[in-house]
Amino acid sequence: MANDFVTRMEQDAKIGSFFKDSNPERLRKMLAEQFCAELSGPCTYTGQTMQQSHARFEIRREHFNRLVEILQDTMNAHSVPFWAQNKLLAKLAPMARDVMHNAERTGLPVAPLAPPPKPE
Ligand code: HEM
Repeated sequence: MANDFVTRMEQDAKIGSFFKDSNPERLRKMLAEQFCAELSGPCTYTGQTMQQSHARFEIRREHFNRLVEILQDTMNAHSVPFWAQNKLLAKLAPMARDVMHNAERTGLPVAPLAPPPKPE
């Protein structure tokens, strides 16, 4: 699932350019670890903090929202159960403030995420 998610982000018109100089193998591995750890699976996240890994990008709210949309599409395509989708999105939402560029962090509170998709 994490592999497909990264592929979809790399190919996305809005946020694909952020990934052009990244190391795709590492990103896939780190995301798989992180998702597993966040969903209380038997794994440990060994990557950088969200602030460290995103500090050099000018990530804004619109980019974050697009990433969430792509993640929802990916999870639907992989038939991830609705409860697990919500659980992962709820874990990722508070990370928005660490991932976004400084200018976007000044206004508090951080706007809520778009609501998750309705189950079929
Ligand atoms: C909750 C939201 C997000 C999470 C959980 C997340 C997670 C991660 C993780 C685990 C890594 C790997 C860190 C490492 O290599 O140690 C990473 C790297 C990266 N993220 Fe995110 N990310 C998020 C949002 C975003 C957004 C919104 C963008 C851009 C639109 C983005 C762009 C990138 C890029 C380009 C890299 C690669 C950096 C590199 O190769 O050095 N991320 N992210």
